[in-house]
Amino acid sequence: MRIICVNNYDEMSEKAANILASQIILKPESVVGLATGSTPIGMYDHMVRAYESGKISFQRVTTFNLDEYFNLDKNNPQSYYFYMKKNLYDKVDIPNENINIPNGMVEDIERECIRYEKEIRNKGGIDIQVLGIGRNGHIGFNEPDIKFEALTHMVNLDEQTIRDNSRFFSSIEEVPTKAISMGIKTIMRAKKIVLLASGKEKAESIYEAIYGKITPTLPASVLQLHPDVVFVLDKDAAWKLDSKELDKEYL
Ligand code: F6R
Repeated sequence: MRIICVNNYDEMSEKAANILASQIILKPESVVGLATGSTPIGMYDHMVRAYESGKISFQRVTTFNLDEYFNLDKNNPQSYYFYMKKNLYDKVDIPNENINIPNGMVEDIERECIRYEKEIRNKGGIDIQVLGIGRNGHIGFNEPDIKFEALTHMVNLDEQTIRDNSRFFSSIEEVPTKAISMGIKTIMRAKKIVLLASGKEKAESIYEAIYGKITPTLPASVLQLHPDVVFVLDKDAAWKLDSKELDKEYL
């Protein structure tokens, strides 16, 4: 595990974009796992700039998003499909057929979850997976639980997640209570993982993820077992960590 700690949100975004861009430069046909939420927006912005300046192309990249709300039309501005189009896909040269996001509108959710897993496998697995982290330690929508859910599955969102995500909706009643998410095994099979976190409200879950017991009650703690994971943190998200272990760039 490496922990890169930078000054602020923009430096975190740039650092994460550089890691992703390097992956795409080294392997133009990379399979990239992506996250939504407020944390990676700046990273996507830097990726778009890298594309516009000719540094990277998404022509041969395949993407798999971590999750999608259940029963929210993809044209709804709060859907993760809409988010991805707005922040990345409509702004770069990725072919539509290379974009994969779970479909939360299908009748047979179980079948959709199996299809998603198969697609990932058919593409040879995920080369690099981007993650955010919930204040409750969730990754993807793997909420605190008594067991790790292995593969892509339907999730009942945690009350805290519903409250946290209500900031994107006009009222809390509009926040979907279910989602489809990659499972912990799906995430852990990625060859590399980059987790981004910014802000003091993430400091506790970051601390627990890195130093805490490995437990499904704090799903991100499982990342301690991944052979190639990097946490890119701003100093607010990192403030509880032991400074000796950080690759600090703000001193
Ligand atoms: C989003 C996702 C979630 C978020 C997490 C943090 O695809 O899987 O795990 O990464 O909820 O969200 P923000 O970045 O909004 O704090």
